[in-house]
Amino acid sequence: MRVITVNASKSYDILVGSGLIDIVGGILTQSFEPCKVAVITDDIVDEIYGESVMQSLEESGYDARKFLFKNGEKSKNINTYIDIQNFLAKNELTRKDIVLALGGGVVGDIAGFSASTYLRGINYVQVPTTILAQIDSSVGGKTAIDLECGKNLVGAFHQPSLVVCDIEALSTLTDEVIEDGLGEGAKYALLDKRVFMHILNKNFDLETFVSLCIEYKKQIVEGDEFESGNRKLLNLGHTIGHAIEKLSGYTISHGKAVAIGLDYILSASVKHGKITSDDYEKIKVVLSHLTKNVDKSLCPFDIKDIVECMVYDKKREGDSISLVVYNGLGNCEIESIKLCDLLGYFQ
Ligand code: GLY
Repeated sequence: MRVITVNASKSYDILVGSGLIDIVGGILTQSFEPCKVAVITDDIVDEIYGESVMQSLEESGYDARKFLFKNGEKSKNINTYIDIQNFLAKNELTRKDIVLALGGGVVGDIAGFSASTYLRGINYVQVPTTILAQIDSSVGGKTAIDLECGKNLVGAFHQPSLVVCDIEALSTLTDEVIEDGLGEGAKYALLDKRVFMHILNKNFDLETFVSLCIEYKKQIVEGDEFESGNRKLLNLGHTIGHAIEKLSGYTISHGKAVAIGLDYILSASVKHGKITSDDYEKIKVVLSHLTKNVDKSLCPFDIKDIVECMVYDKKREGDSISLVVYNGLGNCEIESIKLCDLLGYFQ
């Protein structure tokens, strides 16, 4: 098992290994006294891990209670959030108790946001069960729910107390969910040489891949926890990706939309002379080992419509938008681009 320690406003360990979910109770005893644990999960994850997690917690001396909601982004809303708050209050959780998020990004985001606000903030543990949640959303303390106007518009920075990444859990994922995670993984490959090189390694393995992505994110979060600077790099491919997700009515998954967004960014790098067409082709071949979705020809929308939608992005500042641009392997930077120049930047 690998242990990666994040030293942000709060220090916490991220454990990466196999078979960790079945012994999660024992793992918790290393950090927490017996207390109440509110397990927040969705119906699909519950079917696979619910029983063993509850059993492991009970056997390790925790008073475990479970809150279930329907799988999917549509559940990440104010109603589920209020139901969770009431669940925590009815079960009389105190500041000494723990929220445990068991599932993918939706579960982690809403459970984390619930923990950040209940009693003005209690501890929470992330047990991410998807690639996307393991390499990105469970690390760094971003928590949120969606509004009708857009995703993640209400949220808080609230670091977890512990993150437990069980690599074995990834073997139960559908192709669609794996694809979603690997789209986000392609982002890390462009940001970090070590991740990129590991994709080329004939001994490629998911545990190392997940760990390398987390190590990269850890460094970014330690340097800029509240996203006033370099943390924005993690938005590589996301400004376009979010617009694509929104235009599709969220039928195109986050990771797939980000992967398409990465291709737009790489193509713009060629256009602006940052990389050659040859570099572009080589990068695409490497990324295709992860996902075939780094390909803007898969995008059903016109760049004009995408740019129009980007105007409403969270990263807009006045009449400009922060865009993460690619200047070469492990060399990305944040550029402020005027909204009126945005279409020309890509076209
Ligand atoms: N998912 C991007 C971040 O955590 O900053």
